[in-house]
Amino acid sequence: MSSVQSSALILILLTTCCTFSDCYDPLDPNGSITVTFDIHEWRTDGYLARVKIQNYYQYRHVDKPGWNMGWAWTKNEIIWSMSGAFATAQGDCSAFKYQTPHSCQPKPVIADLMPDALPANKSEDCCHGGLLSAWAIDPSKSFSSFEITVGNLDISATVPPPANLTLSAPGPGYTCGPVTETDPTQSSDIGGRRKVQVYKTWKSTCTYSSFLANKKPVCCVSLSAFYNHKVTTCPECSCGCKETNRNTVPCISEGSSSSLSNLNSLDVVQCTDHMCPVRVHWHVKNNYMSHWRVKLTVSNYNYKRNYSDWNVLVQHPGFSQKAITYSFNSTTLPTVGFTDNVALFWGLQFYNNELLQANEGELGSVTTDILLEKDLSTFTLSNGWALPRRIYFSGEECEMPLPDTFPVQPNISYCIKPPHYLLLLILVYLTCKILITWL
Ligand SMILES: *[C@@H]1O[C@H](CO)[C@@H](O)[C@H](O)[C@H]1NC(C)=O
Ligand SMILES: *[C@@H]1O[C@H](CO)[C@@H](O)[C@H](O)[C@H]1NC(C)=O
Ligand SMILES: *[C@@H]1O[C@H](CO)[C@@H](O)[C@H](O)[C@H]1NC(C)=O
Ligand SMILES: *[C@@H]1O[C@H](CO)[C@@H](O)[C@H](O)[C@H]1NC(C)=O
Ligand SMILES: *[C@@H]1O[C@H](CO)[C@@H](O)[C@H](O)[C@H]1NC(C)=O
Ligand SMILES: *[C@@H]1O[C@H](CO)[C@@H](O)[C@H](O)[C@H]1NC(C)=O
Repeated sequence: MSSVQSSALILILLTTCCTFSDCYDPLDPNGSITVTFDIHEWRTDGYLARVKIQNYYQYRHVDKPGWNMGWAWTKNEIIWSMSGAFATAQGDCSAFKYQTPHSCQPKPVIADLMPDALPANKSEDCCHGGLLSAWAIDPSKSFSSFEITVGNLDISATVPPPANLTLSAPGPGYTCGPVTETDPTQSSDIGGRRKVQVYKTWKSTCTYSSFLANKKPVCCVSLSAFYNHKVTTCPECSCGCKETNRNTVPCISEGSSSSLSNLNSLDVVQCTDHMCPVRVHWHVKNNYMSHWRVKLTVSNYNYKRNYSDWNVLVQHPGFSQKAITYSFNSTTLPTVGFTDNVALFWGLQFYNNELLQANEGELGSVTTDILLEKDLSTFTLSNGWALPRRIYFSGEECEMPLPDTFPVQPNISYCIKPPHYLLLLILVYLTCKILITWL
């Protein structure tokens, strides 16, 4: 291994260990979900606002059962009416004798309507059942809007924005910044020849932290190659350990007759050494003159969860060349400050865009072959070059095996004695791990 490669490995290990504890993802620096309130009409006792929720995450979508958002009113505002979404509770509206408001809660929680909602309850760009696509996969489905009519407000004074925005998308993990006033949203009129703008725009940016959402990884990576019979399995205890106390994920042994319905828990995985609900396997399958072929398989070990509209992100220098993906949809993402390229894969519609749950006989799985063109100056089967640097499943970083367990070419003799820096690397990695579990 050259010193360039080993320093690259150090970099990979260090960044791997830092991304899990904070919410900045170097592969998606602009990732966020923004919530924008556009006031486009004043009323005697309040305003009409269009609220837009936009997912800018390149490879993290909002899955079933969908988003909901909440905020706190600062001046006893109420919601007279809504279209395109609804408040989950009406609250105490007994003070309003002549007209019934939609919600009088001081901290309303808003959820999306289903696509089959009554036309009278819909608004423009609404009603996706709370689902938002990842930006890199389908920008046209990455946002949703609704309209609210806000009342019980003295509009001759300064109109305050809602406070303390919260977002569940779905479940915890998102932290929203303050709702602040920004430049009014503009749109065009008269075929683009005239610009119009709303009266006032408030905006908040919400960011995701895997650490807040999961506490532990949800996915791991295993590796194999045609040049070695040994399969590198997921690191042991990647997502938890089999025999620990009650607060771990319950698991069921493969082919066990114990009834699934006995377990009420939301997540039930097959008992494995890694205990991850999802495993991504990378197999280096063939080495041709000008191409090489990889088989990518995603397996679902969860007995009670289907992953709809899943995606897999792979960081590998080989994606700088042309690649043909046979059974998944794919694209490459722009990378800033990274030499390795990043490819994003997702399922084909009506074919394998749903990663089905495991059943008693087998795991749920989706798989594809990927044929990559070679850059003859960099391609090599040595030193694990053909193996991925980093993998994410639906936005969650997967646990990688340690470099010293990678499948090696049997011919290479210098690997028998691991050099000093390899031991040092492992030491650094383990120290990081321990630090993270303390945090
Ligand atoms: C992030 O946003 C900035 C400013 O909008 C842009 O210049 C930059 O190219 C973006 N980076 C990526 C990786 O999309
Ligand atoms: C928003 O949250 C802060 C801190 O938790 C709290 O002090 C404040 O009262 C909240 N604002 C409203 C309007 O509830
Ligand atoms: C839909 O509209 C009907 C009447 O038009 C109303 O009674 C109902 O509350 C509305 N539902 C929602 C979810 O807004
Ligand atoms: C997952 O999908 C299968 C087949 O569509 C369905 O039978 C099963 O109920 C689904 N599981 C969950 C938890 O929704
Ligand atoms: C591949 O993804 C694009 C963008 O989301 C989509 O328009 C296209 O229909 C997808 N193709 C298939 C076969 O699913
Ligand atoms: C072992 O590798 C060397 C080059 O590294 C090659 O010349 C040789 O043919 C290989 N031997 C076998 C048995 O594969």
